Amino acid sequence: MSQIDEVRGAADIVKIVGDYVKLRKAGVNLMGLCPFHQEKTPSFAVHPTKQIFHCFGCGVGGDVFKFVLLIENLSFPEALRRVADKVGITLREAPGDESDQAARERGQLYKLHEAAEKFYAAQLTGTAEGRAARAYLADRGLADEVVARFRLGYAASNGQALTRHLSEAGFTPEQMERSGLVQREAERDRVFDRFRRRIIFPISGESGKVVAFGGRALGDEQPKYLNSPETPIYTKGRVLYHLDRAAAAIRKLDYAILVEGYMDCIAVASIGVENVVASCGTSLTENQIRLLARSSRRVVVNYDPDSAGQAATERSLALLLEAGFEVKVLALPAGLDPDSFVRRQGAEAYRKALSLSPTYMDYLTDRAAVEHDISKPEGKVAAAGRVLPYIAQVPNPVLRAELASRLADRLRVDGRLLRQEIERAAGEKRREIRMEPQWAATRVTPAERELLRALLEDEKLADELLPALVDEGVLEGLAAEALFRQFREARRRGEKLDASSLEDQVTSEHQRLTYECLLDGGEAPDRVRALSCVIALKRAKAEREREKLQTAIREAERERNQEKLGELLRAKDKLVKELSQLGRP
Ligand code: UTP
Ligand code: MN
Repeated sequence: MSQIDEVRGAADIVKIVGDYVKLRKAGVNLMGLCPFHQEKTPSFAVHPTKQIFHCFGCGVGGDVFKFVLLIENLSFPEALRRVADKVGITLREAPGDESDQAARERGQLYKLHEAAEKFYAAQLTGTAEGRAARAYLADRGLADEVVARFRLGYAASNGQALTRHLSEAGFTPEQMERSGLVQREAERDRVFDRFRRRIIFPISGESGKVVAFGGRALGDEQPKYLNSPETPIYTKGRVLYHLDRAAAAIRKLDYAILVEGYMDCIAVASIGVENVVASCGTSLTENQIRLLARSSRRVVVNYDPDSAGQAATERSLALLLEAGFEVKVLALPAGLDPDSFVRRQGAEAYRKALSLSPTYMDYLTDRAAVEHDISKPEGKVAAAGRVLPYIAQVPNPVLRAELASRLADRLRVDGRLLRQEIERAAGEKRREIRMEPQWAATRVTPAERELLRALLEDEKLADELLPALVDEGVLEGLAAEALFRQFREARRRGEKLDASSLEDQVTSEHQRLTYECLLDGGEAPDRVRALSCVIALKRAKAEREREKLQTAIREAERERNQEKLGELLRAKDKLVKELSQLGRP
């Protein structure tokens, strides 16, 4: 048995969750107020025998490690260690894959960054040059405690300080170069610091460990900001500045504020608005969105109001919408970025502006209305053309129609026409949705859900039913098709169908569905009911096919293609027979 299983076996999730959440018995489950989002009625469930938790409201779920990891904001190995401590098991060695070469290298890089962070911080307070930099920060309105809280530092101008410090601390030249913090000059075979005469902003990964730095020039030197290059521990598009600390607040308030720069993020967080993250120079990536989605799917985009910021806002909007986010836009007045706004107008003014942020739709429509004269037909067309592509990105068709109607109202145009136009654009534009939208679960039929539940509960039944379900194509086109297939694969490999081990292999939406099925709370489904679900699914599939045939038949009639028509009618007869064998619902 692995140490992970050993710890999992010894821990009781009810007790561990109980330290954070007041739980009450409700059928087989225990329920409480979700600690990961704000709510007034309990939708957070814990299953005592399956040892899992799931929130029906915000969708988080997992085993005991996942819970501790999320609530304490730890990495997996740290969460494992924490749970092991709680149940009194001593882990044999550093868990995880720290044994292989690459992992060792990464470990050293983390240590190196930790040493560099401390060094830069000490430079800021302990040297004459650093004190001048400190004055710069004070001038920009950063109090000492904010500097300390964000662990800001200073890189001296001489260009050797860090290199020297790291060698003295025992790091090899190879390690230093690999970190990107030290560079080699090719011709003269000399190494020197990457950051010189810059304010240093440590950038942390999700676990809070420093993985890179950003450095701001003190004066007008170019570039204004210089960042670490990508390294084995740092991929630019996979980190959001401040997310490590903001995640808890984002979950609690159920929305994030997205700003552009380090200084913006610090300014906003330092007035007590903690749920803020920065994309820092890169345009927002899908990976960053995925990171954010773990904490909330609601976001206020607060980019700079300059034209680059506007363009970035609109690019990010498209990606966020596609990922099923609920998006608002805060465009601050007078050309101020969040940092300058907070400094000039104060915390209250920022909070107020934040609370008044329009939805992205209103924001875009307002902008379109400024850019075009919407009292004239050409203006209406142009304005609609500006907003339409964004609406077409929204994955949920109901919401899409709603947005189209609202836009039609604003522009005083025919709503039906606009909706048609959007559906056409949506049909053309929709690429494969990489992150399944939240509403997908609602398309899962009751029969599908109950069958999933039965298979999860009863492995013998799973082995009996799954192969035929997959091979006979009964699952084709179902919302949970991929999940059923994963179940089949897992059983083929001889694995248990348990929610936490499936977690890495299925989409978050299917993960959520799995937890919902497991925590359904009702009577456990038996074989007979499972079989009736299979029949219902077969029937649904036959119905879908019959509809398709019906369309083809009408087509053939119109084309007067007798040969094809005969063939189709025979196929339809066969289907109708099949359907009658499956019985009416
Ligand atoms: P801005 O140019 O808007 O700077 O860049 P800022 O955040 O307002 O900075 P201050 O207030 O002048 O100090 C926004 C973000 O874009 C990235 C940085 O992450 C910056 O915070 N950036 C900017 C770079 O990476 N390189 C640059 O040369 C400029
Ligand atoms: Mn700024």
